[in-house]
This record gives sequence, structure tokens and C-alpha cells, in this order.
Amino acid sequence: MPRPLAREAARTEPASLGLTQRPRRNRKAEWSRRLVRETTLTVDDLIWPIFLIEGEGRRDPVASMPGVERLTVDEAVRAAEKAASLRIPAISFFPFVEPHLRDATGSEALNRNNLVCRAVRAVKRAVPEIGVITDVALDPYTSHGHDGLLEDGVIVNDETVALLVEQSLIQAEAGTDVIAPSDMMDGRVGAIRTGLDRAGFRDVQIMTYAAKYASAFYGPFRDAIGTSATLVGDKRTYQMDAGNTDEALREVALDLDEGADSVMVKPGMPYLDVIRRVKETFSVPTFAYQVSGEYAMIAAAAQNGWLDGERAMMESLAAFKRAGADGIFTYFAPRVAERLRQG
Ligand code: PBG
Repeated sequence: MPRPLAREAARTEPASLGLTQRPRRNRKAEWSRRLVRETTLTVDDLIWPIFLIEGEGRRDPVASMPGVERLTVDEAVRAAEKAASLRIPAISFFPFVEPHLRDATGSEALNRNNLVCRAVRAVKRAVPEIGVITDVALDPYTSHGHDGLLEDGVIVNDETVALLVEQSLIQAEAGTDVIAPSDMMDGRVGAIRTGLDRAGFRDVQIMTYAAKYASAFYGPFRDAIGTSATLVGDKRTYQMDAGNTDEALREVALDLDEGADSVMVKPGMPYLDVIRRVKETFSVPTFAYQVSGEYAMIAAAAQNGWLDGERAMMESLAAFKRAGADGIFTYFAPRVAERLRQG
């Protein structure tokens, strides 16, 4: 007696699911995955934050950021040359200010010959084609580690803004391309824009840290610039609360209104939802900062062999593009650029 055909077939193949849609078909090969990919990270998306120290010919490792070093000005020029040869569009500077130069009002921030200004001049002379972004805030320069003036336990807003305008002018005179206020004082973008315009720096851009949260992820950065030990209290009266996103939109709206050319969300990966909301609401150049703690998590886990560091690096950056970021500050920038160049 012949066996029923249906049962015969069932032995070699499972019953049909009757699927007309099989999303896996698009994932079956590398060529196809590349073809259908919605977002792609390119070297044009990268901004490389660089730590500076005094001296010459010296690179000083940052213990809590494996692979990251503080550079003397001559080494920073070399780094800028490397960045340019990799086609990284822009770099940014963060100084480790000598402790004896720090004081209650951050007066070294207004020194025309401070570490940042010297680095800007040297880099713009040697590598004019690279974009230079400089941070405006007082924290590297104050003895208490705050971004503004501290009076009777309060960070005073308007008095701080006056100093930030001066700091911006000094950086513009040194030749910076972009002023990046990271202090979160109210009204600083408008005041800086007015100050720059009056002094004839109409083409100096402002990239504002518009939505900057009071975050535990800045820890290694504060080690790198030497403010961890000295910071008095925390920054919650000026940096944003982690629970808020409407407030981020309000901050962005204000900064754009005051003349910001582009806006930033910081930290990065824990705030991808904020990047998405900002980009969708305003449709302006929107940047993300993959901060020191995010870098440290990936680098430390990779060092321990707990994850594939290269893949985690690329995946974390792809996430920013997917969320809508136009570019990313990342300490991985040179490594990513090299990887992208290799294809
Ligand atoms: C300070 C500033 C901070 C960072 C950039 N600018 C730290 C802070 O607000 O305490 C953090 C960057 C990082 O963690 O990588 N104005």
C-alpha cells in the first residue's frame, strides 16, 4: 500500500508556515545586508576630543580611559595632522590645567596664552584645514571644579555668563572655529553670540551643549582634567535631571533662539531618546557626545575580554546615527577612522 504523500513530505521538511514575509531573506548575505542598511557611520561623522597638558613631547595616559592620553601642544599638533590625514573633520580640546593656575574665579580661562589658546594657535597654523572646537566653561580652571562662579554655595548665573563671553572672545582671537559652551548657564548662547559679533567674529560658530545632563558618566573625564578630587558637591543645579526630555527640547529651543548653529545632547548612549526627539522636533544639526564613562565601559570590558571591543565600539556609534545624530564626539575617533579607511 502506498504511503500518503503528505506524511512522506513531513519527514524531510516541517509543515509549511505559509509565510509570504520572510525578513531573513534580506539578511542572508553580506552584500544584501549592506544594500538594505538604513544608516551608515562615516568618517564625516566624527569629532575627536583631545586632552591637553603642559610640557613638550609628552603623552600622559589617562588611567580610567585605557588608550586615551593627555597631549602636550606639540603632540596635539601631531594628533591634528593624523586626524586630518584620516579625514576626521574636527577635533576639540580639553585642558588639564596646572593646579597652581586654578583659582576661585577660574581666571586662567581668560589668559590669552593659556594651554587651550596655545594649542588652537599651533594647530590652526600647522593644520588649517581641520575644524577646531573649544569648550567654554570654567571647570578646568576653578579650584572648586565648577563650570561657573561659586558664591555662598550657589553657582551664580549672570556673573558667570559675563566671564564665559570673555573666555569665548579669547578663544576666537586664538583662531578657534567653533565655540562649544558646556556650562549650562541660562542665556549664555545669546550673550556669547552678541559678544562674538561685536568683536567681528561673525563666522565663529556656536555648537551648544544644549541638553547636558548631570551624569555619573563624566567621571573619567574629571580624572583626565584633574577635577574629580577637587569638585565641591555636584552639578545638579545647572546640569539637567536624568528624568527629563521636555526640558531638553526647551533648552534646545532657547539655544537656537539665541543663535546656536548646532546643538548637542550629552551623555550619548543613555540619552538616545533625547537625540531622537531633538532631531525630529528641530531638524537642525544635532550632535551627540559619547562621553568618557561610555568610552571607559567599553574599553574596560574589552580589556577584560568580556566583550569584543572593536565591535562594541562600532555598534555604539552606529546607534547614534540611527537615533538621528549628525555627528558624534568620541574618544574612539582615530581608531574608528582607521577602521573605516580599511573598509
Ligand atoms: C565640563 C565638561 C564635562 C565634559 C565635557 N565638558 C564634564 C562635566 O560637566 O563635569 C564631559 C565629557 C566626558 O565625560 O567625556 N564643562
